[in-house]
Amino acid sequence: MKGLVLSGGAGTRLRPITHTSAKQLVPIANKPIIFYVVEQLVGAGITEIGIVISEGDTGDEITAAVGDGSKWDVHITYIPQDAPLGLAHCVLISHAFLGDDDFVMYLGDNMLQQDLRQFVERFETERSRPPTLGERDRVTPAAQILLAHVSDPRQFGVAELDADGDVVRLVEKPQQPPSDLALAGVYLFDRRINDAVRSIEPSARGELEITDAIQWLLDHDLRVVHEVLEGWWIDTGKKDPLLHCNRLVLDMLVPRTDGHVDEQSRVEGRVVIEDGAELVNSVVRGPAIIGSRTRLVDTYVGPYTSIGPDCQLIDAEVEHSVVLASSTINGVHRIQDSLLGRESEVVRSGIRPGATRLMLGDHSRVDLE
Ligand code: DAU
Repeated sequence: MKGLVLSGGAGTRLRPITHTSAKQLVPIANKPIIFYVVEQLVGAGITEIGIVISEGDTGDEITAAVGDGSKWDVHITYIPQDAPLGLAHCVLISHAFLGDDDFVMYLGDNMLQQDLRQFVERFETERSRPPTLGERDRVTPAAQILLAHVSDPRQFGVAELDADGDVVRLVEKPQQPPSDLALAGVYLFDRRINDAVRSIEPSARGELEITDAIQWLLDHDLRVVHEVLEGWWIDTGKKDPLLHCNRLVLDMLVPRTDGHVDEQSRVEGRVVIEDGAELVNSVVRGPAIIGSRTRLVDTYVGPYTSIGPDCQLIDAEVEHSVVLASSTINGVHRIQDSLLGRESEVVRSGIRPGATRLMLGDHSRVDLE
């Protein structure tokens, strides 16, 4: 079994954060999303991992962050895609890497709570199990998909099940969804998906859709099995799901203090203070993480906050937010429900006349108190 992680594409939905960096590298609890993805594959015993990257765009940044896989003792092959032509296009261009092997395809911006291992084991068991009596017509599954109940299925691939609970139809981002069961971004395939991706045509949005490729399998009487997820699953490509995901991961933090907390400071609850971080007359109430070399002075950091490395927070209050590396917050009470990109500055300078002075990138959003 191999792993194929999709990390090409354009991060249009998390703008402006992704104007300057790949959405798969946005950190959750100070760790890039794609690291969680690789760790899921490693946890399922997969050691050959291909990563589709967008050539000439965010590919170099992903390669630099993830490296050759030696961090996890696995082998990583990078597969450049020259344009975001769709998830099935990614399978098409990965043929030399995949060969005829079974593989897990994992979208590089998706996070899954449940262990991938159990899904891989189920697929392998289903494929190797001889038919029992009464099951003589049973065919080996060509694919296994994961489904999750969602409130707005129109943003996803959606599955329709028949009365027996089998998948009979899949549609990508339908206006009239046949159910509330979305395709989560983790798929297991055998070699027959290669025929499917070669046979389908681009969709109305000009992409080769993996949803259409799986529909092709169904249309050719090949078996597609599914599981409905029990734990959480998040497509992190937007601010609110990203904050939500950050909350869920922070809830599982193992507290530790590797930095320095002075006598006037307090750390309460599930908190990680990373190496070289410093708290001066400050309070951190978990779940929260304070990145390496970050300095908090006269500051309050409240629950569900991740502060990246090399930040300066002076006379500030921040809660339920994600602040990326090298940002400064000075004299601001309080920032909440916010996502700040790298090297952001939010300051109260005291300069007269008193006014709000903004320097915002494209697609920014400010909600004043
Ligand atoms: O998140 C689950 C959804 O993911 C599914 O429900 C949909 O059926 C599926 O089509 C997909 O929809 P999205 O519109 O959210 O896909 P997105 O364009 O965000 O791409 C998902 C990942 O794949 C992302 O990490 C970028 C990468 N990608 C995307 C495209 C289109 C590539 O590497 N190459 C591509 O050509």
